[in-house]
Formats: sequence, C-alpha cells, structure tokens
Amino acid sequence: MQRLAPALREDNVPLDLISLIKTILAATKEISFRVSQAHLGGLMGSTLDENIQGEVQKQLDVVANELFKDILLESGFVKAISSEEEDTSVAGEEDGKFIVSFDPLDGSSNIDINSLIGTIFSIHEAIPDMAADNPDQFKQAGHKQVCAGYVLYGPSTMLVMTTGSGTHFYVLDRTHGGYLLVERNVQVPADTREFAVNMSNQRFWEKPMQNYITDLVAGEAGPRGEYFNMRWIAAMVGDIHRVLTRGGIFTYPADNKNPDKPYKLRLMYEANPMSFLVEQAGGKAVTSKGPIMEIEPDDIHQRVEVIMGSRNEVDKCLSYYK
Ligand code: AHG
Ligand code: MN
Ligand code: MN
Ligand code: MN
Repeated sequence: MQRLAPALREDNVPLDLISLIKTILAATKEISFRVSQAHLGGLMGSTLDENIQGEVQKQLDVVANELFKDILLESGFVKAISSEEEDTSVAGEEDGKFIVSFDPLDGSSNIDINSLIGTIFSIHEAIPDMAADNPDQFKQAGHKQVCAGYVLYGPSTMLVMTTGSGTHFYVLDRTHGGYLLVERNVQVPADTREFAVNMSNQRFWEKPMQNYITDLVAGEAGPRGEYFNMRWIAAMVGDIHRVLTRGGIFTYPADNKNPDKPYKLRLMYEANPMSFLVEQAGGKAVTSKGPIMEIEPDDIHQRVEVIMGSRNEVDKCLSYYK
C-alpha cells in the first residue's frame, strides 16, 4: 500500500501543499487519539459555552478546534484559518500561501454515544493583496478549493481527500503512524436506492422536497416503483462516507422550523469540501437552485441547502423543483 506523500506526488500536488496537508494530518492523528481517550480523560459532555452558530459546544469540539488551530498556525504555511467554532477568521503568516477552513468535529451529537464523528477541512489559495487578518479572503467559491477532505474517527481512522485529481481513501496505519492509500479514484454509482435525510423535519420542508421523499418512501407502490432504503448517521462525515462508498443521496433541505435559519449545514466547513469530494468521485452536489461550488459566499459562517450524491438521483430530486 502506498504512503501518502508518494500518492500525492503522483497527482502532481505541489510540495508546499503536501507540507500543509501533512500538518493537517498531524492534527487529525492527535484528535483521533484524544477522541478515543475522551471518556478516560474526562472530556465527555458539554461546556458552558455557545459557539457563533448558536450551538452549545461539547468539550471535544473545543479541544479539537484548539489542536487543529494551534498546529496549523504554528506550521507557518497558512495565512489564516476559519473554523465552525471561531467567531471570525484567525490570522497566521502574512506570506502564507494557503487559507484553511475546517469543522474540527462534525457530528457533535454522536460524541456522547461513542458513535461516528470526524474532522472536515477545505484549502484555498490565499489572496496575495489581502491582509492575513481580513476575513474577506475566505469569501471564495468552492470551485476554487485546491484540496478538501475529512478524517473519520470510526472503527478505523480514515482519510478521504481530493486535490482535484479524483477522490482517494486512506487508512491510518497505527503501526507506523501514517496514512496509507487503500482506494484510488473512488466512484459514486450514478444510481441508487438509498437516501439520507432527517425525516423528523419532513413537515417543515418545502413542498418539492416533501413530494420527492414521499415518493421514495412509497416504494414499489409509488411512482418510483422501487423500494428505497433510509440511513441517517446524524454526522455528515458518516453519511457522506457511505455515499462515497456505495452511493446514495444525502440531503439537508431548507426548512421553516426556525424562520431566521432555513438551512443547517455550513458552506465553508461542510457543504463545499463535501461537494468537492463527491464531484471528484463522479457524484453531484447542488442546492435546489444550482451547484454548491458556484456559490459566491457572503459570510464565512453562511449556511446552505445541501443535496448531494449519486448523479441520477440528485437530478431526479431536482426535477421536483422545476
Ligand atoms: P456539527 O456537529 O459540526 O455541528 O454538525 C452537525 C451537522 C451534520 O453533521 C449533520 O448532518 C447534521 O448536523 C445532523 O443534524 P440533525 O440534528 O438534524 O440530525
Ligand atoms: Mn456544531
Ligand atoms: Mn459539522
Ligand atoms: Mn462541528
């Protein structure tokens, strides 16, 4: 099995980006260890704080964020970072070539039940004529990402990453402490009969999504004439990993549960990196209005509607909005 750096060189990834990726992965190895020891180290449960998203932070959200942030800022490779758990972006080196956005721990509600969680990251090139402390440099569309990935802290710690030459799977080999390539150029099947959505929100969705899901649930007796299976891990990293592994459609649609907050998932930390991974694997990632990676962001904590996965099924879902 190939080690990470040679695999990246085969994809012609520049050396400075490889160095940054290695830094990110050093952070994920430490988070992986901390996550596995959380109960023993007294790191379970919530803090008394809320993040900028209005969510109560878990102790591990904070620990993972601090680790990721410190390791990145110490590396000297980054001009700035932005995180789900930070109020605004944080400056690094003025001459840093890259900026990194991340969700230090995705699936916070799974922490206390020892279930799937992960770290999601997205890398853009820094804008040379903007100061390191200017958050506007993060307002770049998803199609400008130079790398995106996630690390899943599951039964094995897995890295899924793209630098624009396909999406590849790696596994952390604890015998030597590095990630090994286990699957190159993963392909999401174009068709599927599996969907992932939080069904308890159905009554709050817009009509087209309600109709689409109703038709899936109707199975053989409905207009689709086939049985559709449902899976929901409640951590986007876990649900997207399943989609990348065996296909499926994942959606977090608009809802009117809270009129000020129609969307749940964050563009920078969740939707963009996952869109890059899914599309590099032949899948499709959209909102009901167009491709996610073409959205020009207006805020670093912006939220979006998300529909992604098997290409033909995503198109089918979109047809309900026409
Ligand atoms: P986070 O833990 O980083 O705040 O993100 C949680 C997100 C995402 O991972 C998942 O798809 C979704 O929230 C789950 O939401 P439900 O509470 O609707 O299951
Ligand atoms: Mn959160
Ligand atoms: Mn998340
Ligand atoms: Mn998170």
